[in-house]
Amino acid sequence: MTDFSPFYDVNLSYDDNYAKGPFGAFATALAGDGVDAADCVKDTPAASTTFLGHRVNLPFGIPAGPLLNSRFTTAAFRMGFDLVTYKTVRSRAWGCNPFPNVLAVHPKSVDGSLTPGSAELDEGVLADTRYEQPISISNSFGVPSRDPDEWQPDMRRAIAAAGEGQLLIPSFQGSRVGGMTTDDYIADHVTTARLVVETGADLMVMNTSCPNEGHNRLLCHDPALVGRITEAVKNEIGDRALAIKLAYIPPTEVSGGWGPDRQIVDDSALELMVRETAARGTVQAFSAINTISARLVDASGQQALPGAGRDRSGVCGRAIRHAGLDMVARLAAIREKLGLDYTIIGLGGVVTPEDYVAYRASGADAVMSATGAMWDADLAHKIKATVH
Ligand SMILES: Cc1cc2nc3c(=O)[nH]c(=O)nc-3n(C[C@H](O)[C@H](O)[C@H](O)COP(=O)(O)O)c2cc1C
Repeated sequence: MTDFSPFYDVNLSYDDNYAKGPFGAFATALAGDGVDAADCVKDTPAASTTFLGHRVNLPFGIPAGPLLNSRFTTAAFRMGFDLVTYKTVRSRAWGCNPFPNVLAVHPKSVDGSLTPGSAELDEGVLADTRYEQPISISNSFGVPSRDPDEWQPDMRRAIAAAGEGQLLIPSFQGSRVGGMTTDDYIADHVTTARLVVETGADLMVMNTSCPNEGHNRLLCHDPALVGRITEAVKNEIGDRALAIKLAYIPPTEVSGGWGPDRQIVDDSALELMVRETAARGTVQAFSAINTISARLVDASGQQALPGAGRDRSGVCGRAIRHAGLDMVARLAAIREKLGLDYTIIGLGGVVTPEDYVAYRASGADAVMSATGAMWDADLAHKIKATVH
């Protein structure tokens, strides 16, 4: 283990984190009663960027996941993260996968990258408890949620704790339960979006990188269904901005592999997603990318996470930086090609200020870090010190 304490303690269960977290520097920031969020952004000039209609100090923050409740999100604001996402909520209480939920992962390549579509993802990536920088991990939670009676008042508190130039972004997703028709599934998204609106939220991000029924496929691999869902959700939330969170969607045809000669010959799969959503006005922003699925093995080649259905898990952190940058550049190219103006939130493997700069250069209007921020609570301060 490294000598710093992530604000989400990977050695504890999700429930213990929910009840006792955050930890480390976030706990200290939270304990500073009377510390005004504005004090913590004093290293930032006055609100300087617009993000989906809101003034923000720096378009950098933490995506859906490690910030479990308003104590975590408030601490994140106080640590200078200006875009702070409340972990994905559902229309109903939903259990968490068994502990452990996080392992360190060690891809074979020299730079620690995992390439989408590579054999390594199926053959097995070493996963254990040796956490090292630059950090890559796997997370396996199953998107747990508290009951709306619990998360709604808490989300209200989270929104109220934003300082000047800071923004709380709720995340939500639909829930598939046995016997549901497609219409029921769409309606569950609408219900959840309405519950989010009731907290006073002015925008939200919908997770589409969740399993879709019957196949080993994600919702975002079905652009037509995402189109139907976002249309229904947008009808419910009115003028509030809707972002959707995407998993990595590979180009339809590419030449030059991942080398310097890489050329996208045909990007129609990703373009179809844009046409079904942003081009129809139902979606104002894309958040990309979510984790990349890999088979995780221990040092003896056995399944690393215990339990059925957990041979594969999502990898995040440094290992997916190339893939995230690739998706952002392609979303920017499609935006240009179609003459649209959607916002791009770039994420995946941001662990240093240089990564923030690289994402902005690839076309991201805002940048976020989950794993990198977990292992470096000062990441927002470091980026602010670098880019100003
Ligand atoms: C502990 C943890 C929990 C996560 N939970 C969620 C979630 O509930 N909803 C979601 O859309 N993404 C979730 N994610 C994915 C992140 O939002 C992000 O897409 C992914 O981790 C890649 O970013 P990173 O490389 O900066 O970690 C989670 C990530 C982590 C590390």
